[in-house]
Amino acid sequence: MTRLEGRVVVVTGGGQGLGRAYAQRIVEDGGTVVIADLNEEKGSAVAAELGADGATARFHHLDVGDPASVSALADAVTAEFGAVHGLVNNAAIFSTIAMKPFWDIPIDEWDRLMLVNLRGPWLLTSALLPALRAAGGASIVNVGSDAVWLGRPGYLHYIASKGGVTAMTHAMAHELGGDLIRVNSISPGATYTEVPRGTVSAEQKAAMQAAQALHRDAEPADMVGVLAFLLSEDSRWVTGQTLSVNGGLLHR
Ligand SMILES: NC(=O)c1ccc[n+]([C@@H]2O[C@H](COP(=O)([O-])OP(=O)(O)OC[C@H]3O[C@@H](n4cnc5c(N)ncnc54)[C@H](O)[C@@H]3O)[C@@H](O)[C@H]2O)c1
Repeated sequence: MTRLEGRVVVVTGGGQGLGRAYAQRIVEDGGTVVIADLNEEKGSAVAAELGADGATARFHHLDVGDPASVSALADAVTAEFGAVHGLVNNAAIFSTIAMKPFWDIPIDEWDRLMLVNLRGPWLLTSALLPALRAAGGASIVNVGSDAVWLGRPGYLHYIASKGGVTAMTHAMAHELGGDLIRVNSISPGATYTEVPRGTVSAEQKAAMQAAQALHRDAEPADMVGVLAFLLSEDSRWVTGQTLSVNGGLLHR
């Protein structure tokens, strides 16, 4: 597949889990991927793996919660490539969350999560705007979550942050349409990666699978085709949308 050939795409949180799968698919589709992650060891290992056979992958350290780090990434990417054709705002505090009733969430945990999950995509998108505009047609994909529509208990700060990401997506699309920049959101249902997490119990997992139209667990490979579609010209008339990718789980 070559539908992302000649396109430079920044993927935040590409060092593991879904971000890693997105980065791999971008390279398979002929694109150049910039993996930007807080975890230097994992992010650089993924970049080395994806770049080893002649495909193009880079790693840059990023703390999307830190404005100085966001600026440094945008400067480095703009200096190297000039134009950026795609941005996947995927990094989030997610698999490390310990579930608890919302009244027990410490304020500093709430604040840090919001800085990373909600302020981060806004800051990074803003910092990369000159490079995105320079592409003459770019696509931003913000990663939301179907947990928002399910009202899943135990991580209210996460739910609130992802609700914000979804809302921001629609407004961003209208503000950036004049620059030929499309903005959409992927809203994954529960998807099981190589990373263990405490945000779903065995009972919740079974209940979600039963409520889906497709009765199996989702894996990263179930998400990547939708991402490639949204990044490519195949979706050139699609903007301001949130696409649930959830095996038909009913929630509205
Ligand atoms: N896996 C699921 O079931 C699921 C479902 C719905 C939505 N999502 C969303 O998809 C995205 C990826 O999910 P995942 O399962 O791969 O999560 P994950 O927790 O396994 O990976 C998150 C990645 O983000 C990076 N990261 C964390 N904080 C960062 C920061 N401050 N700056 C830069 N990078 C940072 C981590 O190092 C890691 O590589 C997240 O936005 C998550 O909320 C996941």
